[in-house]
Amino acid sequence: MNILVTGGAGFIGSHTVVELCHAGHTPIILDDFSNSERSVLDGLKNILGFEVKFIEGNCNDSSVLEKVFSSNKIDGVIHFAAAKAVGESVQNPLKYYELNVGSLITLIKTMEKHMVEKLVFSSSCTVYGEPDVIPVTEQTPRKPANSPYGNTKTIGEDILRDVVLAGNQFQFIALRYFNPVGAHESAEIGELPSGVPSNLVPYITQTAIGKRKSLTIFGDDYDTEDGTNIRDFIHVVDLAKAHVAAFDHLNDISEPLYDIFNIGTGLGNSVMELVNTFEKVNNLKLNYSIGPRRPGDTVKIYGDVSKANKILNWHTEKTLEDSLRDAWRWEQKLASKK
Ligand code: UD1
Repeated sequence: MNILVTGGAGFIGSHTVVELCHAGHTPIILDDFSNSERSVLDGLKNILGFEVKFIEGNCNDSSVLEKVFSSNKIDGVIHFAAAKAVGESVQNPLKYYELNVGSLITLIKTMEKHMVEKLVFSSSCTVYGEPDVIPVTEQTPRKPANSPYGNTKTIGEDILRDVVLAGNQFQFIALRYFNPVGAHESAEIGELPSGVPSNLVPYITQTAIGKRKSLTIFGDDYDTEDGTNIRDFIHVVDLAKAHVAAFDHLNDISEPLYDIFNIGTGLGNSVMELVNTFEKVNNLKLNYSIGPRRPGDTVKIYGDVSKANKILNWHTEKTLEDSLRDAWRWEQKLASKK
């Protein structure tokens, strides 16, 4: 299938492009490099041995989308293009609503016009807020989002549901990602945070390489075993493969559909465990200290992923150790290029 991958030069997008190619699909990347870099295309070429079709443009621009859909035969879309910085979304909510919600609406309208029915949407476990019971299943009630970014994911899911409920001939899947970490094992592609990373693993690798002085662990007085937050850290390649599985599932279906899947490992690890594992697998000592809690952080969350295991026939293959080894290899590769 020819699959349009919006945000295909981003962290999860680029790894998904690789897995789509391995599965025999033809991805077409649409990206404006607002939060990614052109060099990702070289990394993809080095892994795949050929150039993936690429279109530069903003997918919130209906004229760009119109051009993409009228000049390519597109069988389905994976929509990654979105902004994801929680703090920035609090400072600049309109940017988030315009970009994340606006682009989804523009995209669905263009798909409708061109009779493209299949879409996989990037949602997030942020829609569960602080859950009362873990692991969370897809039936766990969503909670009011604690940031405009989180709210754009909740609204995105609702848009997909309502469009399908309205009787349109669409098949939509929302994947609720837990915490994607790691990099491609070739170290050709990985996470490229702009500025100071707000996410844990890039902060750790940048500290280990000497770009940051020390990692601050945001709180060790939570009601968890070691006092630090619990997350479900999933290797980005496993997450990428979930998109291929979602597409294969959509391919088997011709009726209108809206469905949701948790995509995680099904395991919870604490921030401290992650730091210890990073040190152990990479045989190094990390500079870190304990600091105050970060406002808005969920205390503990991890996913029940049995629905994706069963219906998508998808399972994770990589461990936390693999993720942290690959993330470190990637950081070293970045440093060697400078
Ligand atoms: C965050 C977002 C989530 C979003 C995801 C995108 C919040 C509350 N949630 O998830 O909505 O989908 O990023 O990737 O921001 N930590 C430290 N020190 C650091 C950085 C992080 O101790 O320097 C801790 C955090 O307190 C947290 C854990 O590491 O407990 C993971 O943090 P992070 O990587 O930012 O992800 P989330 O907050 O889970």
